[in-house]
Amino acid sequence: MSKFPPRVFSGVQPTGNLHLGNYLGAIVRFVEMQSTHDCIYCVVDMHAITVPASVWGGPKALRQNTREVTAAFLAAGIDPVKSIVFNQSQVSVHGELTWVFNCVARLGWLNRMIQFKEKAGKDRENASIGLYDYPVLMAADILAYFATHVPVGEDQKQHLELTRDIAIKFNNDFAESIAENGYGDAFFPVTEPLITGPATRVMSLRDGTKKMSKSDPSDYSRINLTDDADTIAQKFRKAKTDPEPLPSEMEGLKQRPEADNLVGIYAGLSGRSKSDVLREYGGAQFSAFKPALADLAVEMLAPVAGEMRRLLADPGYIDGVLNDGAGRARAIAEKTMDGVRDVVGFVHKT
Ligand code: TYM
Repeated sequence: MSKFPPRVFSGVQPTGNLHLGNYLGAIVRFVEMQSTHDCIYCVVDMHAITVPASVWGGPKALRQNTREVTAAFLAAGIDPVKSIVFNQSQVSVHGELTWVFNCVARLGWLNRMIQFKEKAGKDRENASIGLYDYPVLMAADILAYFATHVPVGEDQKQHLELTRDIAIKFNNDFAESIAENGYGDAFFPVTEPLITGPATRVMSLRDGTKKMSKSDPSDYSRINLTDDADTIAQKFRKAKTDPEPLPSEMEGLKQRPEADNLVGIYAGLSGRSKSDVLREYGGAQFSAFKPALADLAVEMLAPVAGEMRRLLADPGYIDGVLNDGAGRARAIAEKTMDGVRDVVGFVHKT
């Protein structure tokens, strides 16, 4: 038995345009995990500001988008009484622990981060230091709660490996002090990423080799959680496909990224496996499959969008949920931080 009881932590950035990738790759999984785990879900507003304000939208948009992600969590079925739901900036330990981890993580580790390279683009000298440090803040998010499991989409795999490396190095670097202070042989758990299901990497509807993303300039590349039924149907109708009918076996999806993506989306939305979907639709033309997919998407997403609208009409309620969650999160994170202070040798109030 590990000394770390199972606990789930995950986060979503409030950067606008929550899409089907966020929903199937992360939020649906968050909801499921509540029945088996103690869960903490965070709206990571400090991560949002690592890109230029022209991208995250500035203070008014940040506030609105923070409430929107919270509304999406609740509308999808996250229970804010059973689970902890809060926004990152309300718990100062995230920033404090990041500093300690900055002194544990190595420059060479961060230099390998693919997402930094993608987001910084050619003008790397002009990227913020926050963008570079983004994965270290993620490690602090997770480890402040001794989280053992982190459900995420495929694109976060490398960041979670860095979290594991930071936990291992902290445990090693401070091994003696950890033992002396009564924390046994490991202070932090080595967290497991949970990247499972048929929709861990939902691709753009315009190009099956590109990830569905908030920042794609074409709105037709993604289904937004707030799209209405007509928009959803139209986006699937226009989605790029090849001329072949759907295969009956998984093997037949290889080299067909668009077909693979649409089957994955169908599977994710219906809670079935891709091979199960192919058993039903193998041999069907896209002219038949796309309307079935659009109907399913509307059936699953319309109630979520409706509930989001209802919740967003009462920002006081949403802020109350975040404040309550932040209080509960703070109680856990402060205790972790006191332990870190003991281990590192920071004199502190007891
Ligand atoms: P963000 O907001 O970019 O994405 C939120 C979640 O959505 C998943 N995701 C996808 N899944 C499948 N297909 C896609 N096309 C797709 N696009 C996004 C992401 O993998 C993610 O799970 N860095 C995190 C936020 C974060 C975090 C954390 C996560 C900050 N601290 C601690 C876990 C634990 C992110 O990318 O968010």
